Amino acid sequence: MNRAVVIALPGNEARANRLAHAMQAERIGLVYRRFPDGESFLRIDADLADRDAVLVATLDRPDPKIPRLLFAADLARDLGARRVVLVAPYLPYMRQDHRFDPGEALTSVSFAKRISATFDGLVTVDPHLHRYPTLDAVYTIPSEVVAAAPALAEWITATVDRPLVVGPDEESGQWVRAVAEARGLPWRVMSKQRFGDHDVRIEAPDLDGLDGHHPVLVDDILSSGATLADAARVLAEAGLPIPACAVVHGLFGERARDTLAAAGIETVVCTDSVDAQEARIDLAERIAPAVRTLLDAGG
Ligand code: R5P
Repeated sequence: MNRAVVIALPGNEARANRLAHAMQAERIGLVYRRFPDGESFLRIDADLADRDAVLVATLDRPDPKIPRLLFAADLARDLGARRVVLVAPYLPYMRQDHRFDPGEALTSVSFAKRISATFDGLVTVDPHLHRYPTLDAVYTIPSEVVAAAPALAEWITATVDRPLVVGPDEESGQWVRAVAEARGLPWRVMSKQRFGDHDVRIEAPDLDGLDGHHPVLVDDILSSGATLADAARVLAEAGLPIPACAVVHGLFGERARDTLAAAGIETVVCTDSVDAQEARIDLAERIAPAVRTLLDAGG
């Protein structure tokens, strides 16, 4: 018997349908509403005895989403679920992985502690691993990481003629190399200094011998858009065409689209790890086997 059931947290219904289909697993509804004072009401009309509950909740703009996620996990367990697993295609609070100034909250650790205490396993897509080598450095539950690079590489080669894969900063290097090496494409990584949320300075890479190529900026996260906008400006100054952009997680902060448009960027695509009009790369078929691997490893 296929013991897994897929449950969507509010806003994740379409994503959960795609995942349930890819896993050939049953999809179970969650009734959710808010009381007049804003507190959450949740109900699951199913017996979960001896089933594995797979909760789907992407966690961009996470703060309003956390209480109901924890309540839903407890509810699934109360209803008899054997294991409760979180599928969070975007895993938040990974960037505060260091106390940059005294007194700052190490939110990556606090968040990981809560999730590890609530769930039996975690599946996510390309978490922002910069100072942490793996998720195990902060999460104490088993996890599976889905790599989006093959999907980005597929989009790039299908869409862009003679692509040159460019990373706007050192942190993007891991995705840039994975994308470029998957398809034998040339690549470069630039260096970036950040002075504030919307203020970055990027230095041009060595572009010798790359005339006639079309740059594609690849990064894991698009938030304010400042990184991609400045990188596009630097490439244009070096004589290259305005780049297309392919990112894993399109968070699109408030003014991001204006920032990208002001830099002349017209083509931006991201995965469906986050809901955005630019989310044209469906990851369900890649997430499904990762969920299966996690469940199978637990017996
Ligand atoms: C940096 O650590 C990440 O890889 C991204 O480059 C960064 O989060 C992008 O942020 P923004 O769009 O705000 O420049």
